[in-house]
Amino acid sequence: MRTVHSLKELRAILRGYRQQEKTIGLVPTMGNLHEGHISLVRKAAEAADIVITSIFVNPMQFGANEDLDTYPRTLIGDQEKLGTAGNTLVFAPSAEEVYPDGLARHTRIVVPEVSDGHCGASRPGHFEGVATVVSVLFNMIQPDFAVFGEKDFQQLAVIRKMTRDLMMPVEVIGAITIREEDGLAKSSRNSYLSDEERKIAPAIYQELQSTAAKIANGHGDLQVLAKEAGDNLRNAGLRLDYFNIANSQTLKPATPEDSNITLLAAAYLGTTRLIDNISVTR
Ligand code: PAJ
Repeated sequence: MRTVHSLKELRAILRGYRQQEKTIGLVPTMGNLHEGHISLVRKAAEAADIVITSIFVNPMQFGANEDLDTYPRTLIGDQEKLGTAGNTLVFAPSAEEVYPDGLARHTRIVVPEVSDGHCGASRPGHFEGVATVVSVLFNMIQPDFAVFGEKDFQQLAVIRKMTRDLMMPVEVIGAITIREEDGLAKSSRNSYLSDEERKIAPAIYQELQSTAAKIANGHGDLQVLAKEAGDNLRNAGLRLDYFNIANSQTLKPATPEDSNITLLAAAYLGTTRLIDNISVTR
């Protein structure tokens, strides 16, 4: 498993691949890899000759009171996990490599509307940080395509819109959410949970599923269902950030006429913030 830290070195390697007309797939991550990330690498490896997995804990997407300092950094373990996932090269740049003039002086990408609600409402500036780092990675690596998880549904929508609006020649591919046996979506942040919190955490997916089933069966007013689901999560012991029922394309509140609907939820257990979503067609 080769790991490259500098852009100069990466570009020299990529030049060689391009001369051989190899296709390049990118999987951007913040490391602390789990089976969700690995599934993206496998998906990329099915479609591309070369997969680049980037590992960069992006300071621009963390708010002042968030977990940038404690976010797990586990490069050696990550390299081992990637060893089994196919032909991938790790790109693990430093913050200086990504933001040479510093965060405050760096050009930023704002993706309007789709960034606004849900996580965008509770994490101001988060999607600006995500869009900016993803556009930097796209320009550094110039992949043919990039794979992102549906686990971060709003993030995927933001990146799709950015690549469309800025005419980026990168195909964005979505990948399904990988879950624990009890339904909890795999996440690097699950490692923060105490045993007690870990037992409560699957309630998020259970509530998403039962609400989605009601919607699929045509039961009830959408906003009432969202409120009930939020109340159920509070009663299960979570501190609710939001439980929203949205149009899958616009991410605006779903209307009774919408046929593609996505339910998005975010909730805290202690200081750990968990997100999940589920889509339903009716
Ligand atoms: P990170 O949270 O490390 O996630 C990297 C990628 O893995 C994202 O596309 C995310 O949606 C996907 N992913 C996470 N958990 C998953 C799961 N359980 N099943 C399937 N895919 C999953 O998302 C980020 O990093 C960052 O915001 C990034 C895009 C790298 C920009 O910094």
